[in-house]
Amino acid sequence: MQKLIIINGPNLNLLGKREPAIYGSLSFTEFMDKIKTKYPKVQIDYFQSNIEGELINKLQEVGFNYDGIILNAAAYTHTSIGLGDAVKAIETPVVEVHISNTFNREEFRHQSFISPNARGVILGFGLQSYELAIQSFL
Ligand code: DQA
Repeated sequence: MQKLIIINGPNLNLLGKREPAIYGSLSFTEFMDKIKTKYPKVQIDYFQSNIEGELINKLQEVGFNYDGIILNAAAYTHTSIGLGDAVKAIETPVVEVHISNTFNREEFRHQSFISPNARGVILGFGLQSYELAIQSFL
């Protein structure tokens, strides 16, 4: 069975409640339930943290034994050299995702420390960005 993991960064635990006009009104738990039902032949794990070092630890932990990582590093995307280095250091391919189209938002969201080392980037399709990333691994 293929093993994938979705890793979400800071404030994404508030999905459903946080700025619904941008991020939608579905909670991530509800979304995960739907996705797991839709892709029963794939193991899809989930990890979320608001703490940069915990995200790096998780990337290192799964980065040599999973088939794919779907990473929404949220605000750390734009600030964290450490997360970018972790993506570069591991073997498992990482697809970077964002719910919103970060390029039609503030300029500080246009830079990503993840993209140069990601297999690909999917953004702007709401929670569907995650599903498209899953499909890229199938
Ligand atoms: C985000 C975009 C980031 O700029 C922002 O800091 C987030 C969420 C997105 O999924 O659209 O927290 O990664």
